[in-house]
Amino acid sequence: MSKSDAADGVREDRQRGPLKKVIAIYPGSFDPPTNGHLDLIERGSKIFDELIVAILRNPEKNPLFSLEERREMLDSLTSHFRNVRVDTFGGLTVDYAAKVKADAVLRGIRAISDYEYELQMALMNRKLQPELETVFMMPAGKYSYLSSRLVREIAHLGGSIKGLVPDMVERRLKGKFLDPEKLHHHHRSRKAGRRA
Ligand code: PNS
Repeated sequence: MSKSDAADGVREDRQRGPLKKVIAIYPGSFDPPTNGHLDLIERGSKIFDELIVAILRNPEKNPLFSLEERREMLDSLTSHFRNVRVDTFGGLTVDYAAKVKADAVLRGIRAISDYEYELQMALMNRKLQPELETVFMMPAGKYSYLSSRLVREIAHLGGSIKGLVPDMVERRLKGKFLDPEKLHHHHRSRKAGRRA
């Protein structure tokens, strides 16, 4: 960003005149946030003037981490980015984008397998809101096989997820699976006296 950033969201440029700040939203479930998400947030923060990480409030899904837990984790994991903030949203992504005056939707594509679904969403969102652009970015290759779903499964089954999620998420995942009280999607029998 140039030194002459104006408070009204418009920056001046001698050659090109007033330039609008480009705002992007990065929508997703983030259940939990992974190093792949953080890699994409970092890349997005370099390209866009403002990046809003938007956690979907989806009453149909039964998440492992509550909306508040996910917001708390993402808030703390992104606090060092000056142009990134975290929010939650319900309803259509295009409606939320309009509400926060976003110009673009940021999504990550890991492999060809992501492409078909992402293309479908991008084109559907374009049909709903032609002015909103979807921008795809590729996370680092070392995260190309990483997903929140696999992280949940591996953590649940006691495998190591070191290096795939931030330490804070790793600790919280361990806490969830060690303490059945913290799980909301699993009905484990809590028989008294079964402690090892
Ligand atoms: O992290 P995810 O689960 O892959 O994110 C999917 C998300 C949140 C981007 C998508 O489900 C979404 O946009 N949901 C909001 C409802 C909506 O706009 N649906 C129509 C999409 S074309």
